[in-house]
Amino acid sequence: MRQIEQRAVQAYREQFLEEPVLVASAPGRVNLIGEHTDYNGGFVLPCAIDKRVAVAVGHGDTQFYSADFQERCPLLEKRDGSWADYPSGIVWAMKERGFDIPSFQGAFAGDVPLGSGLSSSAAIEAATAIALDALFHLEMVKKDLAVLCQHAENAFVRVNSGIMDQYASLLCQAGTALLIDCRSLEAKPITLNLAGADLTLLICDTYVSRELSATGYNARREACERAAHTLGVRELRDAHLQDLEKLSGEERKRARHVITENSRVLEAVQALQRQDFDAFGQLMYASHRSLRDDYEVSTPELDAFVEIALHSSALGARLTGAGFGGCALALIRSEDAGALVLDVQHCFEARGFTRPEFFSFQPAVGAEFVT
Ligand code: GLA
Repeated sequence: MRQIEQRAVQAYREQFLEEPVLVASAPGRVNLIGEHTDYNGGFVLPCAIDKRVAVAVGHGDTQFYSADFQERCPLLEKRDGSWADYPSGIVWAMKERGFDIPSFQGAFAGDVPLGSGLSSSAAIEAATAIALDALFHLEMVKKDLAVLCQHAENAFVRVNSGIMDQYASLLCQAGTALLIDCRSLEAKPITLNLAGADLTLLICDTYVSRELSATGYNARREACERAAHTLGVRELRDAHLQDLEKLSGEERKRARHVITENSRVLEAVQALQRQDFDAFGQLMYASHRSLRDDYEVSTPELDAFVEIALHSSALGARLTGAGFGGCALALIRSEDAGALVLDVQHCFEARGFTRPEFFSFQPAVGAEFVT
């Protein structure tokens, strides 16, 4: 059992004075490339990080305990803005699907950084979903659980996210990234073999608050919908570069990002398949420029990280997740990661930015449970 799962089991014992029936956990995710394409019916390429949310569950009067917030919460009938929205949303969505969810209790523990764009919310949803599926023998497949988690996030928590985060948290496999076609929902693992090439993925958490991100995110989605409408296509997935001349202003820039980003994901997959990490890295840099200039979701901190990476030996770097703060990611030779960290720390200090946090990881496995 992982340490984080043991913490959830320990919290369960202390709170509910008995042994749980099972413990499940699900990871946060980082997106390698394919940003703001999921809600346009396009392609994404996330992988799971080795930080997870665990939940120990058993039968009891429905209530939740969070070891991180040291707080007990009842099952919520509607959202109240607390962490309990996420497990409550899953129960709500399962009942809506017609499943009988008898009372149960659960204790959570997690180490996915909160509010950093590493999908701590998808991790708590996915962990709850897989735990309840096992506890009540619902026998849903992971893809359906992911769709159910997204529905809970959209309709119960009322955050208008795409399918990427929940899909990644449930379906990723160790050592691979997951190519998701967000229209057909087909997903294919793509081997990364980073360790074999002495490469690592370095995440920089800029600690820039993502509070305003919901407004910006929704505005981007609306611009994409308007662009698709003007072009007479179902989603921007169906648009081509030559269509851009029929658009202007904001819609044109947003659409250009989505169209070029979808192509970059497919090229990136080909680069990975031939183990051409230099080409892959160049696509990461191009993705960042497009997110900065056309999609306008970067920040001075994220740009600074990518700029420093570009002038170091990093093969590629980009902001990852929705943007508006949060994390950036670099693909770099393992032996060079320490020097990049120092350069970024110096630059951030000199510019008066918040002190960033760094961690490296190897792509981890998606949601699973242990009895
Ligand atoms: C957030 C959303 C995802 C996706 C990304 C941007 O993480 O939850 O669905 O849209 O932003 O790629």
